[in-house]
Amino acid sequence: MLVPGASSQALAAALATELGESLAAVEYDTFPDGETLASVPGFDAETATIIASTVSNDAYIELLQLQDAVREAGAEEVTTVIPYMGYARQDKAFEAGHPISARAVARAVSTTTDRVVLVNPHEDAISEFFDVPVDIVDAAGCLAKPLPELHDPLFLSPDSGAIDIANTVCDAYGEGETDYFEKKRRSGTDVEITPSKTDFDGRDVVITDDIIATGSTMSEAVAVLAKGGANRVFCATVHPLLARNARTKLSRAGIERVFGTDTIEREVSSVSVAPVLADALER
Ligand code: R5P
Repeated sequence: MLVPGASSQALAAALATELGESLAAVEYDTFPDGETLASVPGFDAETATIIASTVSNDAYIELLQLQDAVREAGAEEVTTVIPYMGYARQDKAFEAGHPISARAVARAVSTTTDRVVLVNPHEDAISEFFDVPVDIVDAAGCLAKPLPELHDPLFLSPDSGAIDIANTVCDAYGEGETDYFEKKRRSGTDVEITPSKTDFDGRDVVITDDIIATGSTMSEAVAVLAKGGANRVFCATVHPLLARNARTKLSRAGIERVFGTDTIEREVSSVSVAPVLADALER
């Protein structure tokens, strides 16, 4: 029985179709004081697979409530799929006195599940923060699917850390070259991008990254390419978080189109990770 979190209802439905499994009835309520109540009325199954992207603090609480609710209803085996794991980028104490937030939430999730499945977490090493087995699914290849026909394609990552994503998308697309920019982050919303040496004049460029959050990284990269003579510039991201004014920043920078998956359900989620998740769950 698949149990969707509020933020992953379309993905859970797609996954249910892929797996030929049923979706549990779920209710998401909020008390007058702001506390959430996620519940599974009538749940009656021995195994439960919860699918919930933790895009907000409330989504984390809902996930913990759903894990607890299915246990309470008698589930003996619980798998938790976190298509987008919030707080994953806070995987170190970056300053004295800071928490390792990714570890804190991973420990909490581990208390009431037997297995966790993550999709392209920012760093694979965060799987070690969980106290239960973790499978990591690489959904970057899905991003090639919605791309249009490209002219002399170049797949670029905004920093060396995301080059694997560029390589995977390029392989899945079937032709093209890959490279990466140098990125210096000055603050949460201020980044400096230094162009690579690869010639992009007149070419279609796809900038690939694991996540677009504030859009600072992507919009800087898009601006460099658009000003530097690239033909069309596309963004392809596994996790289209697109917080605050990110979408506008990208448009103003000259983006042709943004492609994302449904790990975070947004208007730009043009491809589903359900097939790759189904493969991982059936293994
Ligand atoms: C960082 O290394 C990640 O791969 C992304 O580049 C980053 O999280 C994007 O954040 P933003 O959209 O806020 O620049």
